[in-house]
Amino acid sequence: QGWSGKDQKNANQPAATGQKRPRNDAGNKVTVVLGAQWGDEGKGKVVDLLATEADIVCRCQGGNNAGHTVVVDGKEYDFHLLPSGIINPKSISLIGNGVVIHLPGLFEEGDKNEKKGLKGWEKRLIVSDRAHLVFDFHQVVDGLQETERQAQEGKNIGTTKKGIGPAYSSKASRTGLRVCDLLGDFKDFSTRFKNLVQQYQSMYPSLTADVEDQLKKLKEFAERLRPMVRDGVYYMYEALHGPPKKILVEGANAALLDIDFGTYPFVTSSNCTVGGACTGLGIPPMNIGDVFGVAKAYTTRVGIGAFPTEQLNAIGELLQTRGHEVGVTTGRKRRCGWLDLVIVRYAHMINGFTAIALTKLDILDVLDEIKVGVAYKLNGKRIPHFPANMDVLQKVEVEYETFPGWKTDTSAARKWNDLPVKAQNYIRFIENHIGVPIKWVGVGKSRECMIQMF
Ligand code: GDP
Ligand code: IMO
Ligand code: MG
Repeated sequence: QGWSGKDQKNANQPAATGQKRPRNDAGNKVTVVLGAQWGDEGKGKVVDLLATEADIVCRCQGGNNAGHTVVVDGKEYDFHLLPSGIINPKSISLIGNGVVIHLPGLFEEGDKNEKKGLKGWEKRLIVSDRAHLVFDFHQVVDGLQETERQAQEGKNIGTTKKGIGPAYSSKASRTGLRVCDLLGDFKDFSTRFKNLVQQYQSMYPSLTADVEDQLKKLKEFAERLRPMVRDGVYYMYEALHGPPKKILVEGANAALLDIDFGTYPFVTSSNCTVGGACTGLGIPPMNIGDVFGVAKAYTTRVGIGAFPTEQLNAIGELLQTRGHEVGVTTGRKRRCGWLDLVIVRYAHMINGFTAIALTKLDILDVLDEIKVGVAYKLNGKRIPHFPANMDVLQKVEVEYETFPGWKTDTSAARKWNDLPVKAQNYIRFIENHIGVPIKWVGVGKSRECMIQMF
């Protein structure tokens, strides 16, 4: 009695006492889109596809370290803090409490996209009052910490220098400042802001900050932000329990960059796996519906850290150039390698994907043969788990399956039958190996270049 076993049919039923008990109305479910590799899988494109029908599109974690590209009618938009759904004039975009917000970055992004034709975004954006703020000095500290890592350990993380690590550190050390603080008593906010600057200056004596100038700018931003701010928890509660609504959560970064499950310490500072959707929006797990994992048909990584299937050769270069693998946020070249199914399976263990979007299949069109990493070996023996220790991960030997290339242009394919049989076999193998159905296959940048399988 009282345990939720496999069969959930009888969960939440009132005991037979004869008394009337409130019914636990589960409400609407949210659909979550998450990166299944090291980021840049094409989440923006998948969100855009779903967002055309969404009522609300939410960001729940990360900050403007993310770079999500959306191509509509030949126009390319890149979003960093704004949910990619902001493009849809009929949907509301929400930045949840789990996101860290750099206000100058947010408004700069909005204004830049406005020039490209994005209209009325400020009226469609809701910002949680519990979201933490990233200040300019957090970004400077991000750079100083990278320099320090380089000097101490001979290597840095290769962060985006957007202040993400320092801002989440302030949050965790309980000295951070939130949107609600900025909109509250400004005198009190100013005192706490000055204390925070001083704290960082005592750690980094070279850090300079024109505090009065910063506060003046923040006060201006506060007034521009004020109309967008809501209690995020209550907003989501109403959205979940009102009339039927299509709610989408756009994950930023990715499973292997997750602070708990990623390739620590070469990770970002938030939970980019499914739990982040609950904590970053203040919604119950029972309201999580579909969880779509996005994976490229090969693997890329920006920044430093182990990458078992990396190809430091002509194959890697071909993937980099054909795939235009350049970071949206930092302009750095992305490292490239074969699809690593060990990491995608690991991402599935954590996220419980209901389906997968496999993107950028078209990039593989010219290859004679294609390899897929299917297992890791340590000292000649297969290991069933994904190693936590980076020294161990650096040492694994990857076991590959090799497939013949289809050597056919797939970019015009719009349905399953348009794909060459060899490409179909490649996709079916991936699906069976992960044990999750592939719902979409991407064959190009724009909205229509997505084959829907079911
Ligand atoms: P995100 O961070 O996961 O949203 O992904 P990014 O936008 O950083 O990187 C993905 C890149 O691949 C973008 O330039 C997209 O326009 C592009 N892209 C997405 N899907 C496809 C696809 O199926 N084929 C091709 N050729 N490009 C794609
Ligand atoms: P999207 O949402 C790819 C990487 C950085 C660095 C590490 C830590 O576009 O997929 P941070 O600035 O977060 O402290 O950097 O994480 N990184 C990403 N790489 N795509 C991203 O986001 C990333 N967000 C962070 O390159 O290695
Ligand atoms: Mg990206």
